[in-house]
Amino acid sequence: MARMDRGGRGPNLRRPKLPKAATDEELRRVISNGLAPEMPGAWQLSVREVASVAGYVREMGKIAVEIVPGNPFNGETLFAGRGCSGCHIINGKGNSAGPELSNTGARRSAAHLRESLLQPQADLPDGFLVVEAELAGGGKVRGVKLNEDLFSIQVRDGGGRVHSFQKSALKALTRKTGESSMPAFTSLPANEIDDLVAYLASLRGNQ
Ligand code: HEC
Repeated sequence: MARMDRGGRGPNLRRPKLPKAATDEELRRVISNGLAPEMPGAWQLSVREVASVAGYVREMGKIAVEIVPGNPFNGETLFAGRGCSGCHIINGKGNSAGPELSNTGARRSAAHLRESLLQPQADLPDGFLVVEAELAGGGKVRGVKLNEDLFSIQVRDGGGRVHSFQKSALKALTRKTGESSMPAFTSLPANEIDDLVAYLASLRGNQ
């Protein structure tokens, strides 16, 4: 679970414009009714309480952007040099084993981005559960679960190959909750982490 002070799944509210809540009325509606698919509505709040939460969100927007140490231009070079683009797409370039990051700076706080590099297992975005399938004939396939129903499961391995298994044909199927298929980059020097975070925080897509 994401810690409250950092925020994991939701968008970064510390920015001047919220695309889904441009007007105050829209913002109050988002707070009371929620936003599909992930944000539940706060239907138990009174009209006054909703207005007060909305006011708070607007205040945060005035603290325009978090101050992030590090050099985003170096970060961009490091992103390719440290193999990040082997698993992430930014503006159409790279591979898609991990989530696309083209507008990650608009959706994630800098603290969350830093944590993603140092402790990737701390907060997995939906759709990145790691599973290990033990084959009846010996051998194991480990990868990210793409799809699953009662009888079968599809897994993408580290090399990007997609496997489909009938569960009845497997010796074992283990869900590695709390594990990430992204390596932790704890061995990178602190200034490189700062540069990467500064680069990621600057990625705001077309919003
Ligand atoms: C082997 C593949 C792989 C490599 C290499 C890799 N990542 Fe990831 N990354 C993933 C996967 C899979 C996830 C989603 C699961 C998770 O959060 O741990 C992820 C998650 C992330 C997230 C969090 C996204 C979010 O919305 O929460 C960020 C930020 C990120 N990676 C940045 C990087 C950077 C920067 C590098 C290079 C230093 C890198 N990644 C290298 C696979 C990879």
